[in-house]
Amino acid sequence: MNEDEIAQFNKVNLERESATTSGISSINDKNKLSTKANKPDNQLKNGLLGWYAICSSKDINKNKPYTFTIYNEPLVLYKDKESNLRCVKDLCPHRGASFIGGEVIDGELVCPYHGARYSSTGECTNLSRITCNHIVDSNYDNYASKIHLYQYICKEIGGYVYIYYNGKAKTNLSDFEVADNINNRLLNNYGFDISNYKYEEVVVDFKCDWARIIENHLDILHLFWVHGDTIPDNDVNRDIITSFNQEITREENQIESKYKYKDKSKGEFIRIKFLPPGRIVIYKGEPEEARYIQVLDHIPLAKNKARVIVRHYRKFMKNKLLTDLLLFRQLQHRVFYKVFSEDYMILRTQTYNNQMGYIEKDNVKLLGEDKMVQYYWDWFKSSDRKDHPWELHPKDSNTNTVHEDSAMLYPPANPTLEKQNNKSILLNVAIRVLIPIGVVFLIIL
Ligand code: FES
Ligand SMILES: [Fe+2]
Repeated sequence: MNEDEIAQFNKVNLERESATTSGISSINDKNKLSTKANKPDNQLKNGLLGWYAICSSKDINKNKPYTFTIYNEPLVLYKDKESNLRCVKDLCPHRGASFIGGEVIDGELVCPYHGARYSSTGECTNLSRITCNHIVDSNYDNYASKIHLYQYICKEIGGYVYIYYNGKAKTNLSDFEVADNINNRLLNNYGFDISNYKYEEVVVDFKCDWARIIENHLDILHLFWVHGDTIPDNDVNRDIITSFNQEITREENQIESKYKYKDKSKGEFIRIKFLPPGRIVIYKGEPEEARYIQVLDHIPLAKNKARVIVRHYRKFMKNKLLTDLLLFRQLQHRVFYKVFSEDYMILRTQTYNNQMGYIEKDNVKLLGEDKMVQYYWDWFKSSDRKDHPWELHPKDSNTNTVHEDSAMLYPPANPTLEKQNNKSILLNVAIRVLIPIGVVFLIIL
């Protein structure tokens, strides 16, 4: 290249870089995108291992173990004798059965195969029930001292069950080194006062890639196109073009993006907060003043199988009688199910393209507005290289799918739930209309 060609080459590259970082809106990124050579690939402290919200406290049944998987590893939640929550590996140390179909009796986990019972410390407490009366092992005590359940640390906070997942269950909980502070996942750490809110919740399972679902929930672009007819906001519409200024901050414990209307008189559109590894918080305005907060927790059940817990907290419609009468809960669930069905349509095809390696082959290019998504992938890829969670409990195509099949709610259960919910709305509307008509009819007669 001669000097003119080199100058032209540099100019074109500079223009390219500026086009990909500025986007359509004036992006005020406190961290500024740096050049490729010194670009920080992960400013978040926590990686893919750490505290995950797994389910609601109300899902833990007194008599029945709650089974689930995370990164392919089958686990069980139950409440022990002292009402402490326990999360143990789903493996009976007698002959390796699962606790699926087992029971919790008097705070002891009971294996469905031979009835072994496990106490809160994980030791076997009822060995006499393992063996039939006519086969007596003369060395029970010795046997009992050698078998244990393997556990993870778990906590119940704000109606959620969290586990500290590092892929290595231990017999003794005090042997864990907890590298991730659970407070970094809690809303009150960010200025929200959850005690002022009521919430509705749905749980949705997807047969697709966990990381892609998070990407979807960080993405505001698709709201207008995919959910334009579903989300009850006039600005969220396929046909209305609205532009925003985007402001992103990356800190040790969160990435947050604020979207403000370019038309300053309209103020703010939305804020999205990513709290790794699996929580997203969506709200508007300052945390102390937010009228609603949507909290989405993403659980990587297995490869291309993920669960999402959605809670929609609100400061309005808090009166139970009124919300019951107006079918507020059912109507809100109806929106949730519809939104997730719309997303699922996209996510499963995107998952296929990802599985085929098409997305990795540099076949996709992000826009300036996708900066939140870009930062998320920077974090994800760096954490995946460091923590490689899918290599901790690998399975192959020959591994049977008993845990996934028994645990997966979607498909087909969620469309069924959606239909049940719609039926319940119709039934309740009919009751509310027919009763007054009946009363008037009786009075007239
Ligand atoms: S395998 Fe659990 S009691 Fe035998
Ligand atoms: Fe969506």
